Amino acid sequence: MKILVTSNLTEEILAPLRSAHEVVVNRNDFPLPRSEIIEKIRDKDGLLCSIVDRIDEELMSNAPNLKMIANIGVGYDNIKVPAASAREIKVSNTPGVLTDATADLAFALILSVARRLVEGDGRTRANKWGPWAPFVFLGTQVTGKTLGIIGLGQIGKAVASRAKGFRMPILYHNRNRIPENEELELGAKYVDLETLLRESDFVSLHVSLNDQSRSLIGTNEFELMKSSAFIINVARGPVIDENALVKALKEKKIAGAGLDVYEKEPQLAPGLAQLENTVLSPHMGSATVETRIAMAQLAVENLLAGLSGQRPPNCLNC
Ligand code: DGY
Repeated sequence: MKILVTSNLTEEILAPLRSAHEVVVNRNDFPLPRSEIIEKIRDKDGLLCSIVDRIDEELMSNAPNLKMIANIGVGYDNIKVPAASAREIKVSNTPGVLTDATADLAFALILSVARRLVEGDGRTRANKWGPWAPFVFLGTQVTGKTLGIIGLGQIGKAVASRAKGFRMPILYHNRNRIPENEELELGAKYVDLETLLRESDFVSLHVSLNDQSRSLIGTNEFELMKSSAFIINVARGPVIDENALVKALKEKKIAGAGLDVYEKEPQLAPGLAQLENTVLSPHMGSATVETRIAMAQLAVENLLAGLSGQRPPNCLNC
């Protein structure tokens, strides 16, 4: 069968595909332009894509042979799954293997923004750190503070288990409450969204992007948060209304933000880059060697299964 791979993967990862199929690979670390994907997908049976590729109805309608779309990424808001289902195209994602790396980054953002680590690094390099003095260049203590987790799925739970080590009381809000024994194990208390926003010192977002979560956090929600609180987002940018965030940060409605994802990646909302009370990383939650290899291998496994008529291990619609 014929496969299009939109990401620059190593030959080692591609080997299982190459041994059974004809494979075309984008040998560039920039996403394939949409027009090229549309051109190249025409005669393909399988697509190995990633979260930067928009796979919609129009694209699928140009791929009459397409049987399987394997996404490198746990989030799959880039793929119109109902349109794929209507065409009997299987779709898969890569859950699990990126849980720890993403939770680690959420925690890195919590610590960096609270302890002003990036600012401190800049001062040190510029030899502008001034004298050590008891009340100069202070941050916020993380240990013992309340962590509010919105979306207690695999990644949210991994963040909660890290927070236990920091003796942080944990509040969570989720579509469904998790079983009581898990709540006890994580030390996580279920609350409504408003309570979580009002009572948390750190609010960390771990929901997938969908119609319910788009702009979940905007002006009203920032009003509810403590002026000493921080917001952390390693989920998807559009979960936060980014212009409202910039305004809230400027007006000191909240103390700071640690962000890995943005509403219109790779662009930032006007003013965001100029704010000191933010730590901004370039969508790198899963960016460790180990995790990215595991994600790519899992996507290959899913694709091979789907093309051979089996149920892919992480099928989203079959
Ligand atoms: C995902 O897998 O959805 C992540 O955002 C990639 O880092």
